[in-house]
Amino acid sequence: MADPVSRSGESYGNQAIVELITELYAREDEAMARALAELERPEIPSIQVSPRDGAILALLLRMVSARRVVEIGTLTGYSALWLLRGMPADGHLWTLEADPAHAEAARRVFKAAGVSGRVTLLEGPARTALPGLAEEGPFGAVFIDADKEGYAAYGRWALDNLRSGGVVIADNAYVFGYLAGREPDGRAGREAIESVRRFHEMLAAECAAAMTLPTPDGLAVGIKA
Ligand code: SAH
Ligand code: DHB
Ligand code: MG
Repeated sequence: MADPVSRSGESYGNQAIVELITELYAREDEAMARALAELERPEIPSIQVSPRDGAILALLLRMVSARRVVEIGTLTGYSALWLLRGMPADGHLWTLEADPAHAEAARRVFKAAGVSGRVTLLEGPARTALPGLAEEGPFGAVFIDADKEGYAAYGRWALDNLRSGGVVIADNAYVFGYLAGREPDGRAGREAIESVRRFHEMLAAECAAAMTLPTPDGLAVGIKA
């Protein structure tokens, strides 16, 4: 079928379709609403994943039967709750957060949701926590959604600490539109763009299968060989 529009990468989606898909597949629960309410605080930015991205996270975790999962970049725990939805009741999530105010909010969210026993929140820079966290592995999934300058290091750690068949997932794989075809500026600096590029090259070269799903800012996915 001749279909130059969708083949070029443009989407047929519109606002009504996005709303329908959200209703069907990406309904939030009360705990997620609580995580969103914590984002109302002026000191916390509303940079969580969308409900559709959250449902993709849960789907990917189910697809690889992930029971031990690492998240880099907790914010208030919104995506963490989607990751938990994709895991069995005896699964465990380790989530890493550098900002004390974000970590505090996430602890409140996990407590209210009754999931504190299934989640370990490691407060501090991911680079400090990851070497020690390796001994809890190997992991079924690693979700990367923190500082973009760190993506190459986080991707390396993920590929070194996933079980065979485990999945590495990264949000903002298009770096807000700066991954290619655009000069770095205040929104996305050269170091961030180069780090995410190296991350993509690593997935493409080393994974058994990998692709970037065309979410609004790209969701990179790779299966460990
Ligand atoms: N995954 C979250 C959103 C994360 S926003 C959700 O969808 O709900 C990115 C988070 O990464 C912010 O809370 C920020 O404080 C944190 N972060 C930034 N640099 C970090 C680092 N070096 N180590 C750990 N967390 C970091
Ligand atoms: C920002 C970070 C994110 O992870 C995201 O999904 C959107 C925005 C940011 O730092 O602005
Ligand atoms: Mg993000």
